[in-house]
Amino acid sequence: MVLKQWSPKLTVKRAVVDFSSPNIAKEMHVGHLRSTIIGDTLARMLEFSNVEVLRRNHVGDWGTQFGMLIEFLFEKFPNVEVVNDQAIGDLEAFYKASKQRFDSDPGFKERAQQAVVSLQGGEEKYRKAWAQICEISRRGYQRVYQRLGIKIEEKGESFYNPYIPGVLEELDKKGLIEESEGARVIFIGGKNIPLIVVKKDGGLNYASTDLAALWYRLNEEKAEWIIYLTDVGQREHFEMFFTAAKRAGWLPAGENMYPKTNHVGFGLVLGEDGKRFRTRSTEVVRLVDLLDEAKSRCKAVLVERGKADEWTEEELDQTAEAVGYGAVKYADLKNNRLTNYTFNFDQMLNDKGNTAVYLLYAHARICSIIRKSGKNIEELRKTGTIVLAHPDERALGLHLLQFAEIVEEACTNLLPNVLCEYLYNLSEFFTRFYSNCQVVGSTEETSRLLLCEATAVVMRKCFYLLGIVPVYKI
Ligand code: ARG
Repeated sequence: MVLKQWSPKLTVKRAVVDFSSPNIAKEMHVGHLRSTIIGDTLARMLEFSNVEVLRRNHVGDWGTQFGMLIEFLFEKFPNVEVVNDQAIGDLEAFYKASKQRFDSDPGFKERAQQAVVSLQGGEEKYRKAWAQICEISRRGYQRVYQRLGIKIEEKGESFYNPYIPGVLEELDKKGLIEESEGARVIFIGGKNIPLIVVKKDGGLNYASTDLAALWYRLNEEKAEWIIYLTDVGQREHFEMFFTAAKRAGWLPAGENMYPKTNHVGFGLVLGEDGKRFRTRSTEVVRLVDLLDEAKSRCKAVLVERGKADEWTEEELDQTAEAVGYGAVKYADLKNNRLTNYTFNFDQMLNDKGNTAVYLLYAHARICSIIRKSGKNIEELRKTGTIVLAHPDERALGLHLLQFAEIVEEACTNLLPNVLCEYLYNLSEFFTRFYSNCQVVGSTEETSRLLLCEATAVVMRKCFYLLGIVPVYKI
C-alpha cells in the first residue's frame, strides 16, 4: 500500500510551537490544558509534514511575584536548604498565602520588592530559592504531560532575560521606542494604547520578554514559522508585538511571507452552568483530578461490560487511560478552537456520536474483523490489491485518499478540528461500507479486508496526530 508516501507538503523547514506555558506557582488550569492539547496536535501535524518543530514551554518563571514568594519562603523556612515539595505542600495555597501577606503587611511588601531586586541582581541565596520554587512547579506540570504523552521543552521567560537589553537597544536605534508617561513604549498604528516595553519603575515585562524570545527564535533558532497558543484574551498582546517586529524589519510586511508568526487563540472552557469552568470545592479545576475522573469513569464502564473477567488489571488500566484521556483531548480538538466550549464528561464519554470513545471503539471493531477473518494481513498487504467496485467501497476509498490533503489543510490553517471531522466521516463511510458489503467469506474478501486495513491504518494516523492512543480490542 502507498500510505507511507503520504505526507503533506509545507515549505517551512523549522517551526517553533509555543504552547502549554503555565505560570510557576500557580495551578495549571483548563486554559493551559487547551493550549497543551491543541499545541501538541499542531506540533504533531507539522512534524508529520516534515517540519522540524521546536516544542517550547514558555513558562511564566519570572516577574515581581517572585519577590513575594521568596520572601514568604524565607519567613516560613528560615533554613531554606531543607525546603522540598512536602514542606511547601500545595504551591497554589502557598502563593495565595504569600499574596495575602503582601497585600496586608507593608513591611513585608517592602521586603518582597527588595527581594526582586536581589533576585534580578543575581544574589545566590535568592537565585536558589527561586530555582527551588520553579522546580516544585515543574514536577507538578510534568505529571500532567506524562499522562497526556506530551513532549515539550521548557524555555521559560527567564531564559530570554540576557537578550532583552540588546533587543531593546536595537529597537531603540531603529527609532521604535519612545518615552510615554515615564515608561518606554512602542506606538502601534491603529491602537489606542502603546506596547510598554520598560515599565515606569524600570522593570521589564511580558512584552519585552516576548520581543526578546521572538528575536531569539528568529536569529538563534532560525525558525521560519512561530506559532503561539493562548486563549483569545491575549490576541491584542500578540498583534501588538507582531506589528512591532514588522516595523523593526524582523518579519516581512506581507501576509503569506516567511518568516511568519501566528497567534492561535482559543475560547474559554465553560462549566455546565455556562460560566468559567470551576468545581465546587476549589476555584480552579486541578488537571490531574480531571484526568483521574475521565479514567475512572471509563474503567467503570469497562468493568460493567464484564472486561474485568477477560482482561488483566493492566489491560483495563491502559484501555481506560487511552479512552479517557483520548476523550478529553478529542472533545477539545473537535470544536472550532475559537469558540468557548463546555466541559461535560457525560457528553465526551458517550459511546455514540462524535466522540473519541465512539471512534476508538470503531477502530477496535475493524481490528477484530481482520483478526476474526483468520487471514495474515501483512501477507495480504504484500500480495493483494484493492478493487473499488461497490459505490460504498468507492466512497470509502476516495475518502481515504483525501487524507494527506486534509492534514495539509489542517496544518496550513492551524485547525485540528478539520482533522477530527475527517476522522469522524471516515468511520461513517466505513460503517456504510461494512453494512452493505460482506467482507469475510465473500468473493471480494481480500480486497475488502485490505480496505478494512487501510481504514484502520488511516484512523491510527489520525489518532496519532491528535495525540490519542488507539485501542485494538474492546
Ligand atoms: N504564561 C502565559 C499565560 O499563562 C502564556 C505564555 C504564552 N506564550 C508567550 N510567548 N507569550 O498566560
